[in-house]
Amino acid sequence: MCGIIGFVSSENTKAAVLIEGLKKLEYRGYDSCGIALVHNQEMALYKTKGKVKVLEDKLDKSLEGTSGLAHTRWATHGEPNDVNAHPHQIERVTLVHNGIIENSHELRKFYEMQGVTFKTETDTEVACAVLNDCMNKTNNKIEAIQKACTILKGSYAFGIFFDDELDKIYAIRKDSPLLLGEGKNIVFLASDCSAFLETTNRVLELNENEIAILDVTGITIIDEEGNEVKRESKEATLSLEEIQKDGYDTFLMKEIHEEPMVIKKTFHHYMKKSLNDLNETMPSLKKYKRFIFVGCGSAYHAGMIAKTLMEQKARVISSTELASEFRYSNPILDDDTAVVFISQSGETADTLAALRMCNEKGIDTFAIVNVLGSSLAKEAKVFLPTLAGKEISVATTKAYCSQVAVLSLLCLKKAMEENKLSREEKLAIENEIERLPLLMKKYINQTSVEKIADTIQHHNHVFFLGRGLDYALSLEGSLKLKEISYIHSEAYAAGELKHGTISLIEKDTPVITCITNPDLVLKSISNTKEVETRGAKVFLLIREDLYSNLMDASAVILLPKVHDVLQGIVSILPYQLLAYTVAKKLGCDIDQPRNLAKSVTVE
Ligand code: G6P
Repeated sequence: MCGIIGFVSSENTKAAVLIEGLKKLEYRGYDSCGIALVHNQEMALYKTKGKVKVLEDKLDKSLEGTSGLAHTRWATHGEPNDVNAHPHQIERVTLVHNGIIENSHELRKFYEMQGVTFKTETDTEVACAVLNDCMNKTNNKIEAIQKACTILKGSYAFGIFFDDELDKIYAIRKDSPLLLGEGKNIVFLASDCSAFLETTNRVLELNENEIAILDVTGITIIDEEGNEVKRESKEATLSLEEIQKDGYDTFLMKEIHEEPMVIKKTFHHYMKKSLNDLNETMPSLKKYKRFIFVGCGSAYHAGMIAKTLMEQKARVISSTELASEFRYSNPILDDDTAVVFISQSGETADTLAALRMCNEKGIDTFAIVNVLGSSLAKEAKVFLPTLAGKEISVATTKAYCSQVAVLSLLCLKKAMEENKLSREEKLAIENEIERLPLLMKKYINQTSVEKIADTIQHHNHVFFLGRGLDYALSLEGSLKLKEISYIHSEAYAAGELKHGTISLIEKDTPVITCITNPDLVLKSISNTKEVETRGAKVFLLIREDLYSNLMDASAVILLPKVHDVLQGIVSILPYQLLAYTVAKKLGCDIDQPRNLAKSVTVE
C-alpha cells in the first residue's frame, strides 16, 4: 500500500505534476499525503491528513521546483495525521516509503538509546534514522543505501533525497513495486506508471535491490555489485484513456460496464476458436491430483468458485485457502498438487509470501494475475493473465470477473484431460462463451436493483444466503456491499444459518437469497422460508427458469440462465450493481472507501 511519485527535471516544474500523480495513486492509500519540493536548492515539505485534494487546496498553485518526492499513505504504524504523513526526515536524509519495516520497533529503541529523537510513530522515520546513520558512517550514498537495506527487515520501495544533493533522487525496492519513467527533460519514479503517464509513456523496470539514481542527465541503475546496468525504456502498456472515468460518475461503474468486453478479451486470449485451444494456451494439468486455490478478499471468493467447478466438472480434489492462513499452516503438499494463486495486483503480501513458500518447497505454482510484471506474475512457475485492464476502483469488479473466467477455463481444461467433458457439453459451453459478452451487456443495462437498494440503505445488517456456487457468490456480494456502503452484512451457506446466526433475524432484517442451481432450488427456498417466518424481508436473486410466482419475496431479480460453468460470471453482476446503488444512495466515496487500499503489500 501507499503510493509514491518523484521527479527530477532540468527545468522548473509545477508541483501539480506530483499532485496529479498522487491522485492516480490514491487507490493505494488515501488517509494522508505529503510532498517534498526542491526549488533553488532549498527543500520545502507540505504534509496533511486527508486526501490529495486537501493537500492540493492548501498549496499555492504557482509552486514549482526542479525535483520532488510525494506520497499518499495507508497507515500501518501511527495514526493518519499531518506529522505521520510522509516524507520523513532525519538530518541528511528525506524519504518516502511504501511497504513495512518489520523490525522498526527494535531499531527505534536502539536509535533512541543513541540519542535520536523521533518525531513520528512511523516505521518509515526509523528507516530514515538507519539510512542517516549508515550515511554518517560511510559517506557513500550507494554503500549507505545497500547497508541500510541489510539492516531493515520487511518490504520497501524508497524514494530518497540526501541533503547535499537535492537535484538527485535515489530509489530502491524490495517486495514493493516501483517503476521509472523517462520524459523530455524530466525523469520519474512511481509505484505505478499511471502516476506519470500524462507526461511520458516511456517506462523502465527497477529490479529488486537495484538502486536507481535520477538526475538531470537521466536515470542510472546500479546492480547489487555496484555495476551500472544498461536498460532501455519501453512503451507503457497502459493508455491514458484507461485511467479516465470516460463519462461515468465513478470508476466502479465504468469498470462494471467494461465487464462484457473484459470477458470477451479474456476468453479470446485462451481460446481462439474452441476449447481445444487450451492445449496451446495453458500447460498440461494431467499430473495433478489435487488443486489448492489461494487468494485474499475477492480473489479468495473467485477461488471458491474454482474449487466447486474443479470438483464438479473434473472430479479432482480441490480446496480454497486464505493466503494469510495458508502461509502459516505448514500445509501438506506434494508433487501431484498444483497451487493456484489468484490476485488482481500480483503484489498482495500474503499471497506473494504463500507463493514463495510453495516455490521453496518445489511445488508447482500457478498465478492468475491481472498486472503484468508484478511479483506474483514473475515468480510463479506458470503465469495465466487475466485481461481486465487497469482496475482503479478499490473494490474489484471486472478483475474478479476475469479471474472467474480464467479459473473456469482451467477447470474445463482439467475436465477435458480427465475425459469428463462430452463433445456435446463442450460445444454447448463454446456457444455460451460466444454469446456471454452480449448477454452481460444487456443485463447490466436492463437490470434494476433500485427496490432492494431502497430497502437495504435503511438497515444496519443484511444477510446473504446461497448453496454451493451461490454461497461463493453470496460471499462476494456481501463483501462488495460492506466495502463500499459500510453496511454490515454476512453471507451464509443457506443450510447453516439456523445453527446459531438465525437468532439475529428480526422483523424486516433484509435477507438476499441466491438460487442458480436447479438441484438445490427447494432446499434454498426452504431456508428462505425459515427466515421469512421469523420476520425477515426476503429478496430473491434467482435464475430465470427456476422462478415461479408462488415464491414469496419482497423483490425478485432474475438471473440469465447460462451453462453452470459460466453462471458465476453473470450472476455476480446484480450484486455489484446493488452495492454500487446502495453506496450511491448513502453518499459514500464509492471508488475509495474508508480504511481500504487496493494493493495490500503489508501482512
Ligand atoms: C484488497 C482489495 C480487495 C482484493 C484483495 C486482494 O483487500 O480491497 O478488493 O480482493 O485486496 O487483492 P489482490 O490484488 O491480491 O486480488
